[in-house]
This record gives sequence, structure tokens and C-alpha cells, in this order.
Amino acid sequence: MANMDGQQLFPRKVVVMMDPFSGRTIDPRRARFQYSAAFKAFIKNKGRLRSFVAAAGTGHRSFKVYEITRFFISRSIDGDGAILDIGCANGFLLRCLQEWSGRSLVPYGVDKDASLVRKAKLLFPRHAANFVAADLSIEPDLARIWPQTRFDYIYWNVWDNYSFETQKETELLEACLRRLKAGGRLILGFYESDTNKSAKVRYLLGHGFRQSLRNSCHRRQGEVIVWKDVK
Ligand SMILES: C[S@@+](CC[C@H](N)C(=O)[O-])C[C@H]1O[C@@H](n2cnc3c(N)ncnc32)[C@H](O)[C@@H]1O
Repeated sequence: MANMDGQQLFPRKVVVMMDPFSGRTIDPRRARFQYSAAFKAFIKNKGRLRSFVAAAGTGHRSFKVYEITRFFISRSIDGDGAILDIGCANGFLLRCLQEWSGRSLVPYGVDKDASLVRKAKLLFPRHAANFVAADLSIEPDLARIWPQTRFDYIYWNVWDNYSFETQKETELLEACLRRLKAGGRLILGFYESDTNKSAKVRYLLGHGFRQSLRNSCHRRQGEVIVWKDVK
């Protein structure tokens, strides 16, 4: 993904958004993030923080920019529970979602990059067993990886090369929906770098997803999330 921390992208133009649950307007630039003592200690070590943000896979370098541009994802989480990140990288987003949502979230993750999964395990030592290395484009079978577990939330920041045009691609979508608990929520995100995301979002809106939130940065179309609740 392209680096988004360039001067022209500093988030002066982050869209002020409506919180879907409280109906209140949020401007993440002005938000006073209330972090736990443990997270404050984590981000105090600037070298470690920089390396986690850099390896989080989104192209950001600065935590401040990451925080302001990605906080909006947490607005799709309105309850406690188990959350799976498909393509979790080093788990940093999951850790931030725990803080930003203010909910008690038990983290799970899968990524094809085993070295990133090892980092996620270190980030979540109590839940290290919940992180698995697997390539879901080869076998999009979440039931094989977690036969006993169903999730309250599954977050998948859909890889740019996925267009839901082949059976393999829709298979992973279906696998996610099947691994949710009743009342669970599938949240799909589309990177800033995905130039074809409008077509994908249109496809999903035709398949029971409702458009939720967009975070728009200067000059480029910002990241978007859509979600669907299962019955
Ligand atoms: C940009 S990172 C996203 C990290 C985190 N989910 C987020 O949104 O901040 C994308 C991750 O997806 C992983 N990935 C890409 N294709 C994959 C596949 N077929 N199976 C599993 N993981 C995959 C990559 O290794 C990378 O770590």
C-alpha cells in the first residue's frame, strides 16, 4: 500500500463523521483518546511504536496519523466479544480497536505472513494461541482453523486484488459470514489505495451490507468500511 503520511495527506481533510450508534458528530482530529495505562506504556516507547506502526501494513509511519485516519473503524464496534482480523499483520489494528472502541474485545487473527503472526502473538501474549499463519486465498476455510470458535466481529480489510468476481473471492466472504455468532457483524474495509472500491462497495450493498463510514483524506479517496449483521 502506498505511504499515506506525505505532507499533502496530513489529515486536515479527515471527514467529520456521524457516530452511527450515538448519532453524535465526531472529529477524530479533536478526539481526546482515552488510553488504558497498559496502552499508554506501550506507546511511550517511541522506537517500538514506530516499528509496530510501520509493520502494521497500511503504509503509515506516524502513530498520530494512523490514529486519526483509522479511528473511524472502531465506530462499527458497539459491543464486547471475540473479534477476528482477516489479514491481521502484526495485530496492531486489533490492539488499537480494543482501545478506540472502549469494548472488551478478545483478539483473533490470521495472516499469510508467519513473521507478522509471530509479532501479533508477542503483542497479545495471553491470546497468542488465537493467532494463526494461513493463506486464505489458497484455502478460505475458517472452520478448519477455528472449528470451535464463532466470532462476534470479523474485520477484513479486503485485499486490493479481491474483487468478488471469482468463486474463490466470494468463498472467503461466505466463510466469514458462517463463522459469526447469531447477531455477529462482518465489517469489510477497503484501503485508501484500492481504486476499484466503489464497484466493490456497490456489489456489497446489493448483498445486504449497508454503507457505513468513510474516512477521506486530501487528494485521495479515503478508506471505507461497510458492514452486515447476521441473524
Ligand atoms: C495492510 S495489512 C492489514 C492489517 C490490518 N488488518 C489492518 O487493516 O490494519 C494486510 C495483511 O493481509 C495479509 N494478507 C494478504 N493476503 C492474504 C491472504 N491471502 N491470506 C492471509 N493473509 C493475507 C498480508 O500479509 C498483510 O499482513
